[in-house]
Amino acid sequence: MSSTSSSPSTNRAPVTVPAVRSRKVRDGAEPLVMVTAYDAPGARIADEAGVDLILVGDSVAMVVLGYDDTLQVTVDDLAHHTAAVARAKPRPLIVADLPWMSYHVSPEDTVRNAAQLIRAGAGCVKLEGGRKRVPMIEAIVDAEIPVMGHLGLTPQSIHAMGGFKVQGKETDAAMQLVSDAKALAHAGCFALVLEGVPDVVAGMVTAAVDVPTIGIGAGPGCDGQVLVYHDLLGIEDRVAPKFVRRYASLKDDAVAALSAFAADVRGGRFPDDTESYHLSADTADALGLYGSAG
Ligand code: KIV
Repeated sequence: MSSTSSSPSTNRAPVTVPAVRSRKVRDGAEPLVMVTAYDAPGARIADEAGVDLILVGDSVAMVVLGYDDTLQVTVDDLAHHTAAVARAKPRPLIVADLPWMSYHVSPEDTVRNAAQLIRAGAGCVKLEGGRKRVPMIEAIVDAEIPVMGHLGLTPQSIHAMGGFKVQGKETDAAMQLVSDAKALAHAGCFALVLEGVPDVVAGMVTAAVDVPTIGIGAGPGCDGQVLVYHDLLGIEDRVAPKFVRRYASLKDDAVAALSAFAADVRGGRFPDDTESYHLSADTADALGLYGSAG
Protein backbone atom coordinates (compact mmCIF):
# COMPACT_ATOMS: atom_id res chain seq x y z
CA MET A 1 0.00 0.00 0.00
CA SER A 2 1.25 3.46 -0.88
CA SER A 3 2.23 6.02 1.71
CA THR A 4 -0.16 8.37 -0.13
CA SER A 5 -3.18 6.24 0.76
CA SER A 6 -5.04 6.71 4.01
CA SER A 7 -8.21 5.82 5.80
CA PRO A 8 -11.12 8.05 4.73
CA SER A 9 -12.06 8.61 8.34
CA THR A 10 -8.64 9.80 9.48
CA ASN A 11 -7.43 12.00 6.61
CA ARG A 12 -9.58 15.01 5.78
CA ALA A 13 -6.95 16.90 3.78
CA PRO A 14 -8.31 17.62 0.29
CA VAL A 15 -7.02 15.39 -2.50
CA THR A 16 -4.80 17.49 -4.77
CA VAL A 17 -3.81 17.25 -8.41
CA PRO A 18 -0.10 16.63 -7.60
CA ALA A 19 -1.14 13.83 -5.20
CA VAL A 20 -3.20 12.18 -7.96
CA ARG A 21 -0.45 12.79 -10.54
CA SER A 22 1.98 10.71 -8.45
CA ARG A 23 -0.31 7.67 -8.07
CA LYS A 24 1.27 5.09 -10.41
CA VAL A 25 0.60 1.53 -9.26
CA ARG A 26 3.98 0.44 -10.62
CA ASP A 27 5.58 2.85 -8.12
CA GLY A 28 3.74 1.20 -5.24
CA ALA A 29 0.65 3.42 -5.15
CA GLU A 30 -2.79 2.11 -4.25
CA PRO A 31 -5.19 2.25 -7.24
CA LEU A 32 -7.15 5.50 -7.57
CA VAL A 33 -10.90 5.40 -7.02
CA MET A 34 -13.09 7.80 -8.96
CA VAL A 35 -16.88 7.92 -9.06
CA THR A 36 -19.23 10.33 -10.75
CA ALA A 37 -21.55 12.57 -8.74
CA TYR A 38 -23.76 15.41 -9.86
CA ASP A 39 -25.20 16.95 -6.71
CA ALA A 40 -24.42 17.65 -3.06
CA PRO A 41 -25.90 14.43 -1.58
CA GLY A 42 -23.96 12.36 -4.12
CA ALA A 43 -20.78 14.25 -3.28
CA ARG A 44 -21.28 13.67 0.46
CA ILE A 45 -21.84 9.95 -0.12
CA ALA A 46 -18.72 9.70 -2.32
CA ASP A 47 -16.74 11.64 0.26
CA GLU A 48 -17.87 9.46 3.17
CA ALA A 49 -17.01 6.37 1.12
CA GLY A 50 -13.45 7.66 0.86
CA VAL A 51 -13.09 7.89 -2.91
CA ASP A 52 -10.16 9.90 -4.30
CA LEU A 53 -11.88 11.78 -7.11
CA ILE A 54 -15.44 12.88 -7.90
CA LEU A 55 -16.16 13.28 -11.60
CA VAL A 56 -18.96 15.65 -12.51
CA GLY A 57 -19.26 13.86 -15.81
CA ASP A 58 -21.20 14.80 -18.89
CA SER A 59 -22.85 11.41 -18.24
CA VAL A 60 -25.20 13.66 -16.21
CA ALA A 61 -26.96 14.09 -19.57
CA MET A 62 -27.92 10.41 -19.68
CA VAL A 63 -28.25 9.28 -16.06
CA VAL A 64 -29.85 12.42 -14.60
CA LEU A 65 -31.30 14.57 -17.37
CA GLY A 66 -32.80 11.79 -19.48
CA TYR A 67 -30.98 12.37 -22.78
CA ASP A 68 -29.88 9.49 -25.02
CA ASP A 69 -26.29 10.69 -25.31
CA THR A 70 -23.88 13.17 -23.73
CA LEU A 71 -23.97 15.70 -26.56
CA GLN A 72 -26.93 17.65 -25.20
CA VAL A 73 -25.34 19.25 -22.14
CA THR A 74 -23.64 22.65 -22.05
CA VAL A 75 -20.95 24.33 -19.97
CA ASP A 76 -23.73 26.02 -17.98
CA ASP A 77 -25.24 22.59 -17.20
CA LEU A 78 -21.90 21.20 -16.07
CA ALA A 79 -21.16 24.34 -14.02
CA HIS A 80 -24.56 24.03 -12.33
CA HIS A 81 -23.87 20.44 -11.26
CA THR A 82 -20.23 21.14 -10.37
CA ALA A 83 -21.34 23.94 -8.05
CA ALA A 84 -23.81 21.59 -6.34
CA VAL A 85 -21.04 19.03 -5.78
CA ALA A 86 -18.62 21.71 -4.57
CA ARG A 87 -21.12 23.04 -2.00
CA ALA A 88 -20.72 19.73 -0.14
CA LYS A 89 -17.02 20.66 0.27
CA PRO A 90 -15.93 17.08 -0.39
CA ARG A 91 -12.40 15.89 0.32
CA PRO A 92 -12.03 14.13 -3.08
CA LEU A 93 -10.66 16.12 -6.01
CA ILE A 94 -13.55 17.46 -8.12
CA VAL A 95 -13.07 16.81 -11.85
CA ALA A 96 -15.53 18.61 -14.15
CA ASP A 97 -16.16 17.43 -17.70
CA LEU A 98 -15.79 19.90 -20.52
CA PRO A 99 -18.86 19.07 -22.63
CA TRP A 100 -18.95 18.62 -26.37
CA MET A 101 -18.21 21.81 -28.37
CA SER A 102 -16.74 23.57 -25.33
CA TYR A 103 -13.14 22.89 -26.39
CA HIS A 104 -13.43 22.45 -30.15
CA VAL A 105 -13.63 26.01 -31.43
CA SER A 106 -10.62 28.00 -30.24
CA PRO A 107 -8.08 28.00 -27.39
CA GLU A 108 -9.61 31.25 -26.04
CA ASP A 109 -13.09 29.74 -25.94
CA THR A 110 -11.68 26.56 -24.39
CA VAL A 111 -9.86 28.39 -21.59
CA ARG A 112 -12.94 30.51 -20.83
CA ASN A 113 -15.11 27.40 -20.59
CA ALA A 114 -12.57 25.58 -18.42
CA ALA A 115 -12.40 28.65 -16.16
CA GLN A 116 -16.18 28.64 -15.74
CA LEU A 117 -16.00 25.09 -14.38
CA ILE A 118 -13.13 25.99 -12.04
CA ARG A 119 -15.06 29.02 -10.77
CA ALA A 120 -18.02 26.68 -10.16
CA GLY A 121 -15.80 24.69 -7.80
CA ALA A 122 -13.89 22.08 -9.83
CA GLY A 123 -10.23 21.43 -9.10
CA CYS A 124 -9.52 20.41 -12.70
CA VAL A 125 -11.28 19.66 -15.98
CA LYS A 126 -11.47 16.62 -18.25
CA LEU A 127 -11.72 16.52 -22.03
CA GLU A 128 -11.99 13.78 -24.63
CA GLY A 129 -9.75 12.98 -27.56
CA GLY A 130 -6.21 12.28 -28.71
CA ARG A 131 -3.32 14.30 -30.08
CA LYS A 132 -5.53 16.74 -31.98
CA ARG A 133 -6.56 18.15 -28.58
CA VAL A 134 -2.97 19.05 -27.66
CA PRO A 135 -3.25 22.79 -28.52
CA MET A 136 -6.36 23.09 -26.32
CA ILE A 137 -4.74 21.13 -23.48
CA GLU A 138 -1.67 23.36 -23.63
CA ALA A 139 -3.84 26.48 -23.54
CA ILE A 140 -5.75 25.24 -20.47
CA VAL A 141 -2.58 24.16 -18.67
CA ASP A 142 -1.07 27.54 -19.52
CA ALA A 143 -3.99 29.14 -17.67
CA GLU A 144 -2.98 27.08 -14.58
CA ILE A 145 -5.95 24.75 -14.92
CA PRO A 146 -5.09 21.06 -14.50
CA VAL A 147 -6.44 18.79 -17.25
CA MET A 148 -7.36 15.11 -17.28
CA GLY A 149 -7.43 13.40 -20.70
CA HIS A 150 -9.95 10.80 -21.87
CA LEU A 151 -9.08 8.26 -24.56
CA GLY A 152 -10.60 5.16 -26.16
CA LEU A 153 -14.39 5.06 -26.28
CA THR A 154 -15.07 8.77 -26.08
CA PRO A 155 -18.87 9.19 -25.83
CA GLN A 156 -18.79 12.70 -27.33
CA SER A 157 -17.61 11.01 -30.59
CA ILE A 158 -20.61 8.66 -30.67
CA HIS A 159 -21.58 9.64 -34.22
CA ALA A 160 -18.01 9.43 -35.55
CA MET A 161 -17.51 6.04 -33.84
CA GLY A 162 -20.88 4.71 -35.05
CA GLY A 163 -22.11 4.02 -31.50
CA PHE A 164 -20.70 3.15 -28.09
CA LYS A 165 -18.05 0.74 -29.37
CA VAL A 166 -14.90 -0.68 -27.80
CA GLN A 167 -11.86 1.08 -29.33
CA GLY A 168 -8.25 0.01 -29.99
CA LYS A 169 -9.08 -3.55 -31.03
CA GLU A 170 -6.82 -3.59 -34.10
CA THR A 171 -3.02 -3.28 -33.98
CA ASP A 172 -2.89 0.16 -35.60
CA ALA A 173 -5.65 1.52 -33.39
CA ALA A 174 -3.95 0.13 -30.28
CA MET A 175 -0.63 1.74 -31.25
CA GLN A 176 -2.46 4.98 -31.99
CA LEU A 177 -3.94 4.93 -28.48
CA VAL A 178 -0.49 4.50 -26.95
CA SER A 179 0.87 7.35 -29.04
CA ASP A 180 -2.12 9.60 -28.19
CA ALA A 181 -1.67 8.86 -24.49
CA LYS A 182 1.99 9.89 -24.69
CA ALA A 183 1.06 13.09 -26.55
CA LEU A 184 -1.56 14.00 -23.92
CA ALA A 185 0.80 13.32 -21.02
CA HIS A 186 3.51 15.35 -22.75
CA ALA A 187 1.05 18.23 -23.27
CA GLY A 188 0.45 18.34 -19.52
CA CYS A 189 -2.46 16.04 -18.68
CA PHE A 190 -1.99 14.91 -15.07
CA ALA A 191 -4.07 11.73 -15.53
CA LEU A 192 -5.89 9.88 -18.30
CA VAL A 193 -9.25 8.13 -18.37
CA LEU A 194 -9.19 5.03 -20.58
CA GLU A 195 -12.69 3.99 -21.56
CA GLY A 196 -13.83 0.92 -23.48
CA VAL A 197 -10.49 -0.52 -24.58
CA PRO A 198 -9.18 -4.10 -24.38
CA ASP A 199 -7.36 -4.86 -21.12
CA VAL A 200 -4.03 -5.55 -22.86
CA VAL A 201 -4.16 -2.21 -24.66
CA ALA A 202 -4.99 -0.37 -21.44
CA GLY A 203 -1.99 -2.12 -19.87
CA MET A 204 0.24 -0.96 -22.73
CA VAL A 205 -0.96 2.64 -22.35
CA THR A 206 -0.52 2.49 -18.58
CA ALA A 207 3.05 1.24 -19.01
CA ALA A 208 3.82 3.92 -21.62
CA VAL A 209 2.93 7.01 -19.57
CA ASP A 210 4.17 8.44 -16.27
CA VAL A 211 0.73 9.79 -15.32
CA PRO A 212 -1.94 7.54 -13.82
CA THR A 213 -4.56 5.93 -16.02
CA ILE A 214 -8.09 5.52 -14.69
CA GLY A 215 -10.07 2.82 -16.45
CA ILE A 216 -13.73 2.23 -17.19
CA GLY A 217 -14.24 -0.90 -19.24
CA ALA A 218 -10.47 -1.06 -19.63
CA GLY A 219 -9.56 -4.04 -17.43
CA PRO A 220 -7.63 -4.26 -14.18
CA GLY A 221 -4.25 -3.05 -15.47
CA CYS A 222 -4.95 0.69 -15.02
CA ASP A 223 -3.77 2.88 -12.14
CA GLY A 224 -7.36 3.35 -10.99
CA GLN A 225 -10.99 2.70 -11.83
CA VAL A 226 -14.04 4.89 -12.35
CA LEU A 227 -17.72 3.98 -12.47
CA VAL A 228 -20.84 6.04 -12.97
CA TYR A 229 -22.68 6.56 -9.65
CA HIS A 230 -26.09 5.53 -10.98
CA ASP A 231 -24.65 2.36 -12.54
CA LEU A 232 -22.75 1.11 -9.52
CA LEU A 233 -25.62 1.88 -7.14
CA GLY A 234 -28.23 0.28 -9.40
CA ILE A 235 -30.22 3.49 -9.79
CA GLU A 236 -29.87 3.19 -13.58
CA ASP A 237 -31.00 -0.35 -14.39
CA ARG A 238 -32.11 -0.07 -18.01
CA VAL A 239 -28.71 -0.92 -19.48
CA ALA A 240 -26.07 -3.19 -18.00
CA PRO A 241 -22.72 -2.75 -19.73
CA LYS A 242 -20.29 -5.63 -19.22
CA PHE A 243 -17.87 -3.46 -17.26
CA VAL A 244 -20.38 -2.32 -14.64
CA ARG A 245 -20.46 -4.09 -11.29
CA ARG A 246 -23.60 -3.22 -9.35
CA TYR A 247 -22.92 -2.81 -5.63
CA ALA A 248 -26.51 -1.98 -4.69
CA SER A 249 -30.04 -2.04 -6.10
CA LEU A 250 -31.15 1.42 -5.06
CA LYS A 251 -33.77 1.74 -7.77
CA ASP A 252 -35.49 -1.45 -6.55
CA ASP A 253 -35.20 -0.20 -2.96
CA ALA A 254 -36.64 3.19 -3.94
CA VAL A 255 -39.58 1.65 -5.83
CA ALA A 256 -40.32 -0.59 -2.84
CA ALA A 257 -40.13 2.38 -0.43
CA LEU A 258 -42.40 4.62 -2.54
CA SER A 259 -44.86 1.76 -3.00
CA ALA A 260 -45.00 1.24 0.78
CA PHE A 261 -45.60 4.99 1.26
CA ALA A 262 -48.41 4.94 -1.31
CA ALA A 263 -50.01 1.90 0.37
CA ASP A 264 -49.82 3.56 3.81
CA VAL A 265 -51.40 6.80 2.56
CA ARG A 266 -54.16 4.96 0.74
CA GLY A 267 -54.74 2.68 3.73
CA GLY A 268 -54.96 5.60 6.20
CA ARG A 269 -51.82 4.44 8.05
CA PHE A 270 -49.74 7.55 7.29
CA PRO A 271 -49.27 9.84 9.09
CA ASP A 272 -49.85 8.41 12.55
CA ASP A 273 -50.07 10.26 15.85
CA THR A 274 -46.28 10.40 16.35
CA GLU A 275 -45.87 11.93 12.90
CA SER A 276 -48.41 14.73 13.56
CA TYR A 277 -48.13 18.05 15.40
CA HIS A 278 -50.44 18.62 18.36
CA LEU A 279 -51.89 21.62 20.15
CA SER A 280 -51.48 21.99 23.92
CA ALA A 281 -54.56 20.81 25.80
CA ASP A 282 -55.35 24.41 26.87
CA THR A 283 -55.15 25.73 23.35
CA ALA A 284 -57.18 22.88 22.00
CA ASP A 285 -59.75 23.55 24.70
CA ALA A 286 -59.80 27.25 23.90
CA LEU A 287 -60.34 26.46 20.29
CA GLY A 288 -63.19 24.18 21.20
CA LEU A 289 -61.39 21.29 19.69
CA TYR A 290 -60.67 19.33 22.87
CA GLY A 291 -61.92 15.83 22.50
CA SER A 292 -62.30 16.08 18.77
CA ALA A 293 -58.74 17.19 17.90
CA GLY A 294 -57.13 15.02 20.58
O1 KIV B 1 -19.05 11.45 -18.04
C1 KIV B 1 -18.61 10.44 -17.47
O2 KIV B 1 -19.24 9.85 -16.58
C2 KIV B 1 -17.31 9.93 -17.88
C3 KIV B 1 -16.89 8.61 -17.34
C4 KIV B 1 -17.55 7.54 -18.11
C5 KIV B 1 -15.41 8.45 -17.32
O3 KIV B 1 -16.63 10.56 -18.63
